[in-house]
Amino acid sequence: MSVAENLRGPGAPTATVTIDGARYDLPIRKGTLGPDVLDINSFYQETGCFTYDPGYTSTASCESKITFIDGDKGILLYRGYPIDQLAEQGSFLETAYLLLYGELPTAAQLAEFTDRITRHTMVHEQMTRFYTGFRRDAHPMAVMVGVVGALSAFYHDSIDIKDPSQREMASVRMIAKMPTIAAMAYKYSIGQPFVYPRNELDYSANFLHMCFAVPSEEYKVNPILARAMRRIFILHADHEQNASTSTVRLAGSSGANPFACISAGIACLWGPAHGGANEAALTMLQEIGTVERIPEFIKRAKDKDDSFRLMGFGHRVYKNYDPRAKIMQKTCHEVLEAVGLRNDPILKVALELERIALSDDYFIQKKLYPNIDFYSGITLKALGFPTDMFTVLFAIARTVGWIAQWKEMIADPSQRIGRPRQLYTGATERAYVPMSQREAPQRSS
Ligand code: CMC
Repeated sequence: MSVAENLRGPGAPTATVTIDGARYDLPIRKGTLGPDVLDINSFYQETGCFTYDPGYTSTASCESKITFIDGDKGILLYRGYPIDQLAEQGSFLETAYLLLYGELPTAAQLAEFTDRITRHTMVHEQMTRFYTGFRRDAHPMAVMVGVVGALSAFYHDSIDIKDPSQREMASVRMIAKMPTIAAMAYKYSIGQPFVYPRNELDYSANFLHMCFAVPSEEYKVNPILARAMRRIFILHADHEQNASTSTVRLAGSSGANPFACISAGIACLWGPAHGGANEAALTMLQEIGTVERIPEFIKRAKDKDDSFRLMGFGHRVYKNYDPRAKIMQKTCHEVLEAVGLRNDPILKVALELERIALSDDYFIQKKLYPNIDFYSGITLKALGFPTDMFTVLFAIARTVGWIAQWKEMIADPSQRIGRPRQLYTGATERAYVPMSQREAPQRSS
């Protein structure tokens, strides 16, 4: 098989694929930014061949107008706006509005959207009973998967995905309730009473209040910490077709209700190669412990026979610095300063590890740079969160992106159920063997 680009001739450019002497023209589609795409939609029908791309490294799974990443240049845009500008200047709900509806809101639009969200921040009181069904030491992500999925058992009036107003209602409910559900998971794990939302606070400050206030005394949210929380939420709000977003889209493609789809996204996010990496990065920094031990860990990360990796380093898409990591590093310094941890030994280890890794040939050649999770773990710890809450905070923020992507998919007239194919390498057809004639076979997994 050979592929040659064919840019000549009338109409749109095509690429030509030759299979056993037969030529097939594939349309080349151009986006507003990013690489061209060979449209293989009818490839199987025309050629009888599948394409093979485990991990989807070369596959655009959908058309989207929401988020753009240029991994080589270290660029991340939400609806065209650079992430650093949004994180520095925008509010979280403004970013949410942008991701959901495509444009920055006017003051009146933002006020109306904020009002709509804040009127849905409480959860059905009966839902509090779910929590007591979980063990106190349950991982809060396990609780999130269960409780968010169970929203569909409470809000029947917003699960008809064919009705745009129900889709909108489900979206508002999830964005509004996610911080409440997450804070309840935290409070339950430490044996404290649930704290109800305070709608006079903004999204991030309200979340900190629900996590750290107790009924017995007044709790004032530190504005520096609230700003850090806001930035963390904005930085994590969307990230193109990553594993959890693709999971939400795939679940949604079958017509599953939105609460079930977001619950599936949370389950996927939990994995250590995805949202669980901030927890893993902090654990690693604590394990390294002192600057003197860094070379030992760098050596291990480079050793092919050692499965150890520098957590918080490397990214499937960013082969330059992760633009979110820059803002996260700055935020980390601000938070540590605000809570009196400027000389935190873990921060020292992180800064030195980053310096050494960035000047090491192995990391340079493989284009391994710190990603957002490298500094977010230290920051979240300084904010007062235990490590098992880190991925939960990621899930709160990413809910906006998941919903924006899910809504885009449902509204797309070309949407069909997602159904990948496979390269089958198992047994060919064979006849059933009665038990009495079977010899002990080798088991395959
Ligand atoms: N430390 C040491 N070596 C590494 C690392 C690392 N963190 N990451 C990749 N490599 C090496 C890897 O061993 C491989 O080497 P070789 O070519 O010799 O076999 C090469 O770099 C390519 O790695 P890969 O696993 O094929 O790359 P990938 O694109 O499949 O994986 C990744 C991306 C993020 C899963 C991986 O870099 C990793 O495991 N990093 C640590 C976990 C982490 O920080 N994850 C957070 C990602 S950012 C949050 C998000 O957006 O979800």
